[in-house]
Amino acid sequence: MWPFDNGEERIHQPNKSTMLSRQEINAIESWISQIGIFQFYKTVGQKMSAARKTLKLKYKIIGHGFNRVVYDLNNGYILKVAFSEVGLISNANEAYLYNNCNEEVKKYLCPVKEHGTGWIIMKKVDTKVPFAIKEYTKLIKLELKFLRYGIIPIDLRLDNVGYNEKDEMVVIDYGLFTMDLKSPVLRWFV
Ligand SMILES: Nc1ncnc2c1ncn2[C@@H]1O[C@H](COP(=O)(O)OP(=O)(O)OP(=O)(O)O)[C@@H](O)[C@H]1O
Ligand SMILES: [Mg+2]
Repeated sequence: MWPFDNGEERIHQPNKSTMLSRQEINAIESWISQIGIFQFYKTVGQKMSAARKTLKLKYKIIGHGFNRVVYDLNNGYILKVAFSEVGLISNANEAYLYNNCNEEVKKYLCPVKEHGTGWIIMKKVDTKVPFAIKEYTKLIKLELKFLRYGIIPIDLRLDNVGYNEKDEMVVIDYGLFTMDLKSPVLRWFV
């Protein structure tokens, strides 16, 4: 299955959390079970709104992309919940990559705290990245570092990075990064 041979196994993850209540996990599971074929007919705004209304989480939404809605857990961590198939895969992929990559590059990935089917909890970082030459230079250096350690950093751009507490650039959205040269994702971008 796309994008991994064992994608099913990776996407279905144990749903335990020290930060989310059982009720919140149940709400996420229920939402995830509704992500189906009809999503292709909906706009990002419609999917976001459906996710928000179904999830009914008490946390503030601090961002979203085309695939995931992001809540601030107010304890230094954020929760990303998928609202598309790509979002589902991205959450599973981030958890896999963070836990399996070389230590040398791990420090450039926003740390993953917990994850389950369709959701992931990461450290909250500063996402105010100026569109400046200096930051683009850092981005290119980061890209080379990932490549050196066998990771193809697909979709690495300034929107998908932030700064950790040491003011170092870290990637907050590495859902499409791959260590697999046969990944079908590469056929889209290369
Ligand atoms: N670790 C984080 N700390 C603070 N804010 C975050 C973090 N991760 C994500 N966000 C916020 O949520 C937004 C969406 O997150 P993310 O890019 O992971 O979603 P996505 O749906 O996968 O995006 P894309 O459209 O690129 O696929 C980010 O642009 C950022 O504003
Ligand atoms: Mg993004």
